[in-house]
Amino acid sequence: MRESGHLVLGISGASGSRLGLRALALFSASPDVEQLHVVVSPRALLVARTEIGAGITSVEALLDSAGLDEATRSKIVLHAESAVDAPISSGSFRTRGMAVLPCSAGTLAAIANGTSRGLLQRAADVCLKERRRLVLGLRETPLSLVHAENIVRVTLAGGIVAPVVPAFYAAREVDDLLDAYLLRVADLLDVKIDTADYRWTGGP
Ligand SMILES: Cc1cc2nc3c(=O)[nH]c(=O)nc-3n(C[C@H](O)[C@H](O)[C@H](O)COP(=O)(O)O)c2cc1C
Repeated sequence: MRESGHLVLGISGASGSRLGLRALALFSASPDVEQLHVVVSPRALLVARTEIGAGITSVEALLDSAGLDEATRSKIVLHAESAVDAPISSGSFRTRGMAVLPCSAGTLAAIANGTSRGLLQRAADVCLKERRRLVLGLRETPLSLVHAENIVRVTLAGGIVAPVVPAFYAAREVDDLLDAYLLRVADLLDVKIDTADYRWTGGP
């Protein structure tokens, strides 16, 4: 099949807004990508306000915070999540596939069950039905049986679940990252450890 220059990026409401922004910058700058179709879930914006700043009140503001040059920015096509009439909503519009970065457990569940509520989920469903590449950067821990079964369903349907697992060898300042993760593990073991309090206590 002829390769398409259209790539789809979904950003859902899991922790990891910076991952989504970085993906946006790197994929839109790719010579393989003529147009990067971006869909941001409303919940992703909420998370971005926490993780990037209170000024992220719109998808445009989120995009601006990526600091892209004009040439790169011009390759990005923003679609509203409600725009289920967008080209990427149809299999007849050819793309080279889609990544969801980060992918929440909720979006994973929707994709695994084909509910197609909103453009992000629909575009992912299109990738599965057209047997196009679909990569879900799942960001959730620990995983319940429900999550695991949804991972199996998406995998059997041809999707790739690539959990956001940091490559520790590539990082320099990982102490916060390690401590925050170890605090979760410690909670699971019901063991106290001496770290800063990384627990989520509500929005800004
Ligand atoms: C600050 C914040 C961080 C969150 N992090 C995660 C996460 O890492 N993984 C996850 O599955 N859900 C996470 N959630 C919950 C999702 O945002 C929530 O389930 C939402 O409905 C997902 O919607 P979406 O998948 O349509 O974007 C987080 C919520 C907030 C407010």
